[in-house]
Amino acid sequence: MLIGAAVRSAQLSETAYAATLTREFNMLEPEDALKWEVVHPERQSFDFSQADQLLDFASRHNMKMRGHTLVWHRQNPKWLTEGSYSSAELTQILEQHIKTVVGHYRGKIFAWDVVNEAFDELHPGELRNTIWRNAATNYEPRASSKPSGSEFEAKSPQLYSYIERCFRWAHEADSQALLFYNDAEAETLNPKSDAIYAMVRDFRQRGVPIDGVGFQMHIAKLQVDVASISANITRFTALGVRVHITEMDVALPVDPSGNASFEDLHRQADIYRQITSACFSHPGCTAIQTWGFTDKYSWIGSHSKKTQGAALLFDRNYQPKPAYQALRNALEAQGGVGR
Ligand code: XIL
Repeated sequence: MLIGAAVRSAQLSETAYAATLTREFNMLEPEDALKWEVVHPERQSFDFSQADQLLDFASRHNMKMRGHTLVWHRQNPKWLTEGSYSSAELTQILEQHIKTVVGHYRGKIFAWDVVNEAFDELHPGELRNTIWRNAATNYEPRASSKPSGSEFEAKSPQLYSYIERCFRWAHEADSQALLFYNDAEAETLNPKSDAIYAMVRDFRQRGVPIDGVGFQMHIAKLQVDVASISANITRFTALGVRVHITEMDVALPVDPSGNASFEDLHRQADIYRQITSACFSHPGCTAIQTWGFTDKYSWIGSHSKKTQGAALLFDRNYQPKPAYQALRNALEAQGGVGR
């Protein structure tokens, strides 16, 4: 079982940070270091320094490294978002980006979030309006398919043909890497996960190289529909793809000093326990990763304007929280502690 955390390279020099990370986790993922604005700061130049540092740390500590993310609508550099490029140029830029970044880490990054958050939550089943979707005008999928007689008919395979193309490029650059589609709010059975399911099934039927689906699992409301999450994992793994929980955190209301209530910390622990059990009770759900690991460094603070926090397994002093023990107990129940 892979237990991972999103990691910031700037923090690796902090002793408690590095010690906790290596003691408790066997996988890491750069939180931001592989996003375009960091790794591809100018059109003609790439900067792998932060991600290379994380890879070096991971390999010295016998941890696997996941890659995040090759295609996203956020954290893109200005040269890209404010430049004016033709469809053909954007296509060429995207292909070069994917092949360069995946190629740089060939044989080293074992799994990639190839495309992140491409589906739109406001228009169920539709793709988000991004430069990448809009650039993809003239691309024909290699063979058309019509999944017949299903309630989960792919709306229009043509629509997500740009996603297909990204998976094919990534596969060309590293045929051994596991390639994932990653998204938010698709954990349960819902219109968004239905649309992703239709796409993944179509990809599998036509031999598009996809190996997994990532469910982010950012939880902000202290309640989860575990039965629905479990049913969703069941249907995806039945397509022959793996599932990774990729960005779990459970945000709690906090006071101005960042503290959550005793009761909430225990409710949070219960959610970590339930998700861990739900994942690992499916043989095809092979990794749980949290989005950071110490409350000292978590995106939830800035994301919620400091109204929420305390979302992770360790507190700001690297002490394990009830959530840590709950996750560990759930792992032990599945026979999965120890590396
Ligand atoms: C977040 C990072 O944690 C922050 O440091 C950054 O400022 C914004 O992005 N979904 C994702 C992640 O796929 O990449 C996001 O990470 C959180 C939401």
